[in-house]
Amino acid sequence: MKINILSRSASLYSTKRLIEEARKAGHIVKAMNVLHCDIKLEKQKPTVYYHGERIVTPDAIIPRIGASITFYGTAIVRQFEMMNCLTTVSSTALVRSRDKLQSLQLLSRSGVDMPMTVFTNFGEHTDDICKQVGGPPVVIKVLEGTQGIGVNLAETIEAADAIIDANNELRTRVIIQEFIKEAGGADLRAFVVGDKVVGAMKRQAQKGEFRSNLHRGGTSKSITLSKQE
Ligand SMILES: Nc1ncnc2c1ncn2[C@@H]1O[C@H](COP(=O)(O)OP(=O)(O)OP(=O)(O)O)[C@@H](O)[C@H]1O
Ligand SMILES: [Mg+2]
Repeated sequence: MKINILSRSASLYSTKRLIEEARKAGHIVKAMNVLHCDIKLEKQKPTVYYHGERIVTPDAIIPRIGASITFYGTAIVRQFEMMNCLTTVSSTALVRSRDKLQSLQLLSRSGVDMPMTVFTNFGEHTDDICKQVGGPPVVIKVLEGTQGIGVNLAETIEAADAIIDANNELRTRVIIQEFIKEAGGADLRAFVVGDKVVGAMKRQAQKGEFRSNLHRGGTSKSITLSKQE
């Protein structure tokens, strides 16, 4: 197969590893900086230009779109979809996963266990909301954060009020969530390809921190999930 990896740099560790494995599997692979891709639209002829040159349509793309370029990256992925390329992540999935509210709405419908969550247009009823999710303490998250940034633990109603006020001031939308204390700063991450779990890891937050993200100082190890997990 001819595969294009949409990344910002071919020297990123994750991109290098994907190139290595794709070559090992016998594919022709190249990395493209997604920010240097242009879209050209005309009737029934969707094309992508790279550094000003029209590209040969690959069989498949592997999008590696960072959170800071979601809009641009998604538009390019959608264009490759229009060109009938296979993609490991669809543009729709990309958009859904970048919005914590939208992804929880979808998980809720599909019957996945989740912390109780409230999204509101911010009345004067923080105490009510905290109660609804079994707190305080409660977790307050910005809708489009990643790497644990914008994920806060409010121990009291006053703290929750202050965090909500600050986000309101910045016109940033947040969700308010039940704090899962028994997690003890750990979480499990399952990698799913199609409908199969192909790998899993456990992340543990550093002491004094509830967020398990590696970017926040957490550690990780590879694990095997139980059937229920
Ligand atoms: N409701 C909660 N109760 C306890 N711990 C939580 C809760 N929500 C998040 N955490 C901890 O904080 C970490 C970061 O939260 P979350 O995964 O929601 O945000 P993110 O990692 O910034 O975004 P994303 O996973 O969408 O890239 C989680 O991995 C988990 O360890
Ligand atoms: Mg996370």
